[in-house]
This record gives sequence, structure tokens and C-alpha cells, in this order.
Amino acid sequence: MARDVKNFLSHGSFHQQSGKHVRAHPRNLRHSRLFTIFTFSRSLRRVSRTIRGKSDPFLQNIELPEVDWTDYVKNTFPRIWESKKNNGNVRISELAILAGLAEQCRPKSNIFEIGTFDGRTTLNLALNAPESCNIHTLDLPPELATKYELADGERHMVEKPVSGSRFRRYLGSHPRAIGRIHQLFGDSAAFDYKSYENSCSLVFVDGSHAYDYAISDTRAAFSMVEAGGTIVWHDYGIWKGVTKALGDLEAGERLGLRNIRGTSLVIWSKGS
Ligand SMILES: C[S@@+](CC[C@H](N)C(=O)[O-])C[C@H]1O[C@@H](n2cnc3c(N)ncnc32)[C@H](O)[C@@H]1O
Repeated sequence: MARDVKNFLSHGSFHQQSGKHVRAHPRNLRHSRLFTIFTFSRSLRRVSRTIRGKSDPFLQNIELPEVDWTDYVKNTFPRIWESKKNNGNVRISELAILAGLAEQCRPKSNIFEIGTFDGRTTLNLALNAPESCNIHTLDLPPELATKYELADGERHMVEKPVSGSRFRRYLGSHPRAIGRIHQLFGDSAAFDYKSYENSCSLVFVDGSHAYDYAISDTRAAFSMVEAGGTIVWHDYGIWKGVTKALGDLEAGERLGLRNIRGTSLVIWSKGS
């Protein structure tokens, strides 16, 4: 069982429902020790580094205003499948927020994820979204030449044996939900997003962490999100390229990007 699930369990925030999935209680996430420890230790490291005049290659200054996840996720008890976090996955608290957002998606709308990896988030989006939603997930074939250079240290996420392996396992047990997942392959900077324009109630940007990709994937996300829809980015404050890209976009365009407190998620909702 993932360590952070254990933390949540010990504080009653997550309840193990079966061997396969856990039920998250988002109301408790805000108060969980995990969130407190994460935010506190991060602040402490930042203060200590600032005092010593050092920069941490694994920790960037985060300048986007913070918001509470409860401002966006309403009254939900999202269920979490595949609680074990692999290197490259979102944290379970972030997965719970994404699952809660998926649950709120407009029926019959599209959900688009840039960056499939092992498909753990895709699976949870599909199992929590209204049954009439379609989930599209785009991944880079390892052999494909890319328009921009990838970030150092992310090649292992491209070169996994099978893209989406963790949702493929559920085809037998949850054929309808998994059948609503559409796997797409290509370079996110060269992909043709036309058929998804203004049709997505949720876009999750979690592809390459290189600056140019973070900018280009963000542009794509803005083209796909529908009125009333939401875009979520992962790895803000974690990967330099993502942190700088979102900071630059916000500084230049005043989009209203917000960091969900205690997480590396950034969120933006389009007015309806
Ligand atoms: C951090 S992982 C995604 C994690 C996944 N969203 C999750 O929540 O578990 C990044 C993924 O983006 C993919 N990727 C990297 N560069 C890409 C590109 N240029 N176009 C499309 N996908 C890309 C990688 O192959 C990898 O699967």
C-alpha cells in the first residue's frame, strides 16, 4: 500500500473499500497530517535555502496564488483505484482531487489528458466521470522524434513497456468505463487538437516537463476546454520547466492560474 495512503488511513481520511480501490474523503484532505507535513516541510526547506542563499534544483519558488481544493471539488467522495504510486504518477491526494473533478464533469463532454504514462490517472478519470463522458489520453511513442527537446530525466516515463497498462487491466472488470478511454499517440506539440476544440470539461496537462512543452501543451489545453470547464496541470514547483512556464504565462497574460494548496496541481476554470 502506498505510504501516503497509509498516512491517510491512519487519520481516517481514506477508507480502504476493497483490495482494488479506496474511497477518499476530500473534506478530510484539507486537515490531514499529510497535507500539513508536506506544506510545512516544503516551507521550511524554502526558508532554510533562502537564508543560506542556495537554490534547490528539486524545489522551485512557487509564486502563483494558492487556492483550497474545496473551492473546486464539491461534495464528493471519489473512489480511487490503483492506490500504489509509481514514479511518474500523481500523489494520491492529487488523484483524489482529479477524481473529484472528473465526477463533476458535464455529461457527454470530453476529458483530455496529455501524458498517459501507466494510465493510473486515466483509469480514475474514467471510473469517476459521468458514464456519458469520453476520456482521451495522449502519449508519446518512444521512437517518435519530438518537436522540442524533452526535459532531462523524463525519458523513463516515455520508455515504459506499455502505455496505459494500469487501465488495460480493468477491461475485464469494468468494460464500459475502460471502453470510454481513447488512447491517442503522438507528440503533443504536433498533435492536431481541432476535433476537441471547446469540447472538454476537464483537461489534465501532464506530458513532457520541458518548458517549451509546458507552454505548448497549455496552449492546446486552452483551445480544448469548454465554457465552464477546467484545466489542471501537474508538477508545478516540482519540475523547473513546468514551474517557469506557468509562472511566465501568468505574469504575461494574467490568466488567473492558481496553485492548489499543498499539492503540485495548478487549476484554472473557464467562465461559463
Ligand atoms: C508524468 S508522466 C504522466 C503521468 C500520468 N498522467 C499519471 O497521472 O500517472 C508523462 C507522460 O507524458 C508523456 N510525454 C512526454 N512527452 C510527450 C510529448 N511530447 N507528447 C505526448 N506525450 C508526452 C510520457 O510518455 C509520459 O507517459
